[in-house]
Amino acid sequence: MAARGEFSSKMAFVLAASGSAIGLGNIWGFPIKVASNGGGAFVFTYIVLTFLLAYPILMAELVIGRYAKADTVRSMLAVSSPKTRWLAMITGGWGMLTASLILSFYAIVAGWMIAHGAGSALDLVGISSAWLTSDSTTRSLVFAAVFFVLTISIIANGVASGIEKWSSRLMPMLIFLIVALIIYITTLEGAAEGWKVYLQPDFSKVTEPGLVLDALSQAFFSLSLGVGTMMVYGSYISKSENLPRLGATVAAMDIGIAVLAGMLVIPAMYVAQFNGVIIYDESGKLIESGRLIFNVLPSLFEVMGSAGIITSLVFFLLMSIAALTSSISMLEVPVAFASDSLNATRKKASWMVGGLIFALSVVIIYNMNPLFDMVVNFATQFSEPMVGILFCLFVGWIWQRNAILNELKQGNPELERSLFWRIWPNYVRFVCPAIVLFLLIRSFGLVNF
Ligand code: PFF
Repeated sequence: MAARGEFSSKMAFVLAASGSAIGLGNIWGFPIKVASNGGGAFVFTYIVLTFLLAYPILMAELVIGRYAKADTVRSMLAVSSPKTRWLAMITGGWGMLTASLILSFYAIVAGWMIAHGAGSALDLVGISSAWLTSDSTTRSLVFAAVFFVLTISIIANGVASGIEKWSSRLMPMLIFLIVALIIYITTLEGAAEGWKVYLQPDFSKVTEPGLVLDALSQAFFSLSLGVGTMMVYGSYISKSENLPRLGATVAAMDIGIAVLAGMLVIPAMYVAQFNGVIIYDESGKLIESGRLIFNVLPSLFEVMGSAGIITSLVFFLLMSIAALTSSISMLEVPVAFASDSLNATRKKASWMVGGLIFALSVVIIYNMNPLFDMVVNFATQFSEPMVGILFCLFVGWIWQRNAILNELKQGNPELERSLFWRIWPNYVRFVCPAIVLFLLIRSFGLVNF
C-alpha cells in the first residue's frame, strides 16, 4: 500500500473541501432554482436546510474518513461490525460507483464550459469560433477529453502537490472572478430588477413542499454528499484538527458562494431580459436551465459588444474552475481505492481509473438521448441519497458511540460539553435518514408534489 497523503493545514483542507462542494451546482443550479422558486424565500430555506440536514451528514462522512484514514471501502469496513461487513462493502463500493457516474456526466458539461471559454478567447483575437459554441458530438468528445486530462493530471500528483496545490490556487481565483463579475453586471441596466427578485423573498412559497424538497436535494448535491468524497478528504485531515468546526466552515463557504452566484446570475438574467432576450416562457415559467446558461447568457454577452466578449471569457473561466475543483474530488474516490488496493503507483492508478471513466463519458456522448438524463437522475436522485442514508446508518446505529466520541475529541477535547455532541448523534440516527428517505420516495414518484 502506498503511503497516504495529508493536507498540510486547516486552510488547505477547507479550500479543497470547499472546492469540491462549490461547483456547477452552486453557480448554475442554485441561482436557477432560486429564480424559479420565489427568490429570497428559496435562499432562506436552503440555508436552514443545509445546516439542519446536510451539515450532519457531512460530519458523518468526515468523522468516518478521519478515523479510518483509508479509501471509502476500507473506511466503511473499519466502522462496521462482523455482521455488517457486507453492507460496509456495498456502501463504500456504491459511493465509489456514484462518484464515477457523476464525473462521467459532469466532465461533459464542464467540457462545454471550456469550449465556450475558448470560443470567447478566440473572439477576442478576432478568430471565428462558431464550432466551439455550437452543439456537436466531436466538440463534446474533444472538450470532455481536455477536462479529463486536467482532472487526472492534478489527481496523479497526490494530496499535497495535486489536490491541495491546485485548490489553493484556483479557489481564490474563483472568488475574485465572481466578485468582479457581480460588480460589473450590477452596473448594467436591468440588473436592479434582478436584485429585487433575489432580495425580496416571496415567503408564501416557503410552505410549498416542492420548494423544500428542491432545497434539500440541492443542499445534498452541493455539499458533495453521498459519494464518499468528503470521507476521502476527511481521511487526509490531521488528527489535531477540530472536525465539527472544519465541517461548519466548509458548509458556510458552500452557502456563501451559492449566494454570491445568485447575485451574479439572477441580475445577469434580468439584464438579458432588458436587452430583449426571453428568460420566462409564455406561461411565466423560467426557461430550461441548459438554455439559460448556453443561450441566454451568451446572447446577453453578444449584445454587450466587446465588453461582452471579456465578460463571457471570465464567466466561462469561472465555471470551468468551479467544475475542476469538484471533479478532482470525484476522481479521488476511486483513485484512492485503486491505489490502496493495487500494486500501482498513484500516477498509474489515476490514468487508469480516469481513462475508464472517460470511456463512460464517450458512451454517454454517443447516446446523449436518453443516457445523459438517465445517468444524472440515477446518480443524483437515487444513489446519492441512498448512500447518504447508509452512511447515517453506520454512524447512528452500527459504529460504537464511544469510538465516535473518541475520534471527535481529537482536536476538540471539549466536545462532550458542546451543543454539537448533544444534538448530532441522535440527529444522524433518526432525523437525517428519515428526511432523506422521504426525498428518495419522492424522487421515485411515489408521492407527488
Ligand atoms: N458539489 C458539486 C457541485 O455543487 O457542483 C458537485 C459534486 C462534487 C457532487 C463532488 C459530488 C461530488 F463527489
